[in-house]
Amino acid sequence: MKVFLQTYGCQMNKLDTALVTSALKKAGFSLADSEKGADVVLINTCSVRRHAEQRVLSHLGHLKHIKKSKPNIVVGVIGCMAQRLGAELLEDKTVDIVCGPAQIPQIAELVTKALQEKKRTLAITEKIRQKSPEDEALEKFESVFDSEDSQVPAQAYVRVMRGCNNFCTYCIVPYVRGPEVSRPPAAIIEQVKRLAGNGVKLVTLLGQMVNSYKYSTCGKTYCLADLLSMVSEIEGIEWIRFVTSYPAEEFYEQILKAMADLPKVCNYLHMPAQSGSDKILKAMNRNYTASKYLELIDKARENVPGIAISGDFMVGFPGETEEDFEKTVSLVQSARYKNCFVFKYSPRPGTAADKRLQDDVGEEVKKRRNIKLLAVQEEISDELSKEFIGKKVKVLVEGLSKKPRLSSCGEKSYPPSLKLRRTSPQLVGRTAEDWIVVFNGPVSLAGEFAKVKITRTSPLTLFGEM
Ligand code: 5AD
Ligand code: SF4
Repeated sequence: MKVFLQTYGCQMNKLDTALVTSALKKAGFSLADSEKGADVVLINTCSVRRHAEQRVLSHLGHLKHIKKSKPNIVVGVIGCMAQRLGAELLEDKTVDIVCGPAQIPQIAELVTKALQEKKRTLAITEKIRQKSPEDEALEKFESVFDSEDSQVPAQAYVRVMRGCNNFCTYCIVPYVRGPEVSRPPAAIIEQVKRLAGNGVKLVTLLGQMVNSYKYSTCGKTYCLADLLSMVSEIEGIEWIRFVTSYPAEEFYEQILKAMADLPKVCNYLHMPAQSGSDKILKAMNRNYTASKYLELIDKARENVPGIAISGDFMVGFPGETEEDFEKTVSLVQSARYKNCFVFKYSPRPGTAADKRLQDDVGEEVKKRRNIKLLAVQEEISDELSKEFIGKKVKVLVEGLSKKPRLSSCGEKSYPPSLKLRRTSPQLVGRTAEDWIVVFNGPVSLAGEFAKVKITRTSPLTLFGEM
């Protein structure tokens, strides 16, 4: 039986898809390249914004169509949206399985039942904010399967924490992923060792607030800096990243010290600010001010020379005036991020902001602020990327570049003959600091390190020659 998997959402979801893939393969399923050739279609979903959910709903509309000619195809909705909407999703007859993030260890069983017994099932957590009885199964699932099935060669995600307790007022995560749980260091290390044995060179440690990782055992409390140091000792692992960091003092110095002292830990920090207005930050239940945030950024730059920092921002949060927005613009100008992700506020049912605050910033205003903020950042990214011209960078190659980006880079770095183009196509990789690098080289370099001399840049991409 063949399964087609489609993933929406963040790295957590990508990791879940990798785990589900491994589980299904172990249960005897194989992967299909498209829905057409599949007996089972699983959609791993995201609820972070309404738009993410709408994409899934239109995907289901498309599957409804397919199901007319292939009535036996099994359709499963897994992940955050499954947990959020539960039985509502099963009202759509296209859907056979609804499986929340905490129930993915049961996925092979659920799919088998749906295929053999034509059974439609709802598997979600009833009281998501209580300590989950599924925790043990999830922990086992996490460590038994080793995400070899991640799409990028030599790279893997490892979850160090599940859930979130922070309750930013706009955020759905605590309601779909449950309370914060840090995983035992021994299990994490064991898992990374296994990944390294399978050829993984870059491991990215994942947590909603990864810098608040904390685990006490045998009289010792481990923080993220301890994990970084233990993972650094694993042979075969060459680069270590961690996402996403919350702007907080606790453990911050230790983490920066680990970054500065441990050569394998990449000098990269993803630390969302969300807004530059203290009034909005307060309404978001973010426990810092704009000046505190900038202080943390300064500290990172002092301790880790060459560190690249990226951020997330939200525009159009309830009550955001032009003046508040200008404060966000000036924070972006001061922080000098490598890049930023900017989102328009989207009310999420059940969150405090949705219950208490009116979504009073119009769509047009949100759009304008979004475009403006991206333009401000683009100028900064452009300046920062230009500093690479003429320099050599070490790149972990991901594989073929999906977009033919080099064509805009001038004839020089584009192979002249078709034959050469075939032997040396456009590859894409990243530096330790997460800069995207595009260059020509053999496909066999995927999963390997390469040295690239940068000849040209765009705001988000460095172009060069091996
Ligand atoms: N509306 C818009 N953006 C959101 N994010 C989280 N919740 C919402 C929401 N309700 C953004 C934040 C977060 C990123 C993953 O998504 O910026 O950092
Ligand atoms: Fe990831 Fe949050 Fe979206 Fe879930 S809701 S997939 S945790 S971004």
